[in-house]
Amino acid sequence: MSKEDNYIDLSKNELINLIEEKDQRIDELKIENVKLKCKEIGGFIDEDIFKRIFHPMTDGVYIVNKEFDIQYVNPSLIKDFGVYEGKKCYKYFLNRENVCSGCKNAEVFNGETIYWEWYSSITAKIYDLIETPIKNYNGNIFKLKIFHDITERKQKEEELQNKVKELNTLRNHLRSLSNHLQQIQENEKKRLARELHDELGQVLTAITLEVFNLRDNYSITLTNDVFNKANLIIKQILSLIDNTMKLTERIVMNLRPVILDDLGLIAALKWLVDQTNKYSKIECKFESIPDIDIDKDKAIAIYRIVQENITNIQRHSKATKMLILIKKENDKIHIIVSDNGIGFNEKKINKPGSFGILGMKERSLLFGWNLVFENKKGKGAVVSLIIPFVSRPKLRDR
Ligand SMILES: Nc1ncnc2c1ncn2[C@@H]1O[C@H](COP(=O)(O)OP(=O)(O)OP(=O)(O)O)[C@@H](O)[C@H]1O
Ligand SMILES: [Mg+2]
Repeated sequence: MSKEDNYIDLSKNELINLIEEKDQRIDELKIENVKLKCKEIGGFIDEDIFKRIFHPMTDGVYIVNKEFDIQYVNPSLIKDFGVYEGKKCYKYFLNRENVCSGCKNAEVFNGETIYWEWYSSITAKIYDLIETPIKNYNGNIFKLKIFHDITERKQKEEELQNKVKELNTLRNHLRSLSNHLQQIQENEKKRLARELHDELGQVLTAITLEVFNLRDNYSITLTNDVFNKANLIIKQILSLIDNTMKLTERIVMNLRPVILDDLGLIAALKWLVDQTNKYSKIECKFESIPDIDIDKDKAIAIYRIVQENITNIQRHSKATKMLILIKKENDKIHIIVSDNGIGFNEKKINKPGSFGILGMKERSLLFGWNLVFENKKGKGAVVSLIIPFVSRPKLRDR
């Protein structure tokens, strides 16, 4: 063989190899191109990719075709439902002989992704399901379904819900107990007020009459000097009785504001403000609509809320002024108690062992009113009680 032949032979082999390599590369490029095209139109199926992605997943994954034939199940799902080869999905997951009523295939093969929750009686587990369409190289659509086991989370949620229910029941019991106790307290205060007013009032009146009797009938026989001394003592006794009567009246009014029963809520609150101005250094202003037509129970609740507010301002606010404003706005009555003091301190307002604000909240909650505690932009605290106003039905004239 000549040098030239040798050279031509080698070139031929090289050429053949090169052509073969080139053909192989063209095939690879064609496949890559198809994969890319499939990717563009919504995904592609590749067994290797499945194995790499879905096999190690703790969530269950399976793929099914339009005819309900299972194409792939990952090990996690096989652990739950067993071998799948040759089975229709309804047989595999529900041991049924025909399509399930809740089957989502129609929607999924129509391009939708569906999320739902499912309880399996076979595994006794609850799953969060995602069903979505995928395409293979040829453009065939399959359904990919992911099973996320949420049994434990659901059990915990249920336990939590039961605990919340128990707590709510307990809270409702405590609330009715507190309302009941408040009612008992109000009745007891009313009884005490009546007894103090009737019994003590009567005794004090009787003592006054006896003292007058003593002065008018028995002092005639006395010498001038003794009469003057006796008269002075009698005057002191009468003044003491008068003070005791006023004190009794005040205690009675604090226990049960009779004005509230006789003249209504606004008059009772006005009296409360007058008393505050009389006995406290804080200047208390009162601005109000003429009257509110409201049930006795509600009137006493409002009175107690304002009373506790005034006491709080006197005890805690360091204010020099307070205002009690009662107005009607948009079919609601607003009762606003404000002061120019230090304002509410978030930490102190709910402190354990304090029952004033708690009592206010309970009273307003009982009637479905809105009670808001806030600080003024300038200085001081504001408590607003907002009451939906429904006028009481008037008795019809016969
Ligand atoms: N007008 C106010 N200005 C500033 N702080 C206030 C005002 N009203 C209430 N507070 C704060 O809110 C706290 C709780 O009030 P709350 O009426 O519940 O309890 P209390 O007055 O301390 O005790 P009590 O149970 O005898 O009423 C008070 O201790 C006080 O710190
Ligand atoms: Mg208080």
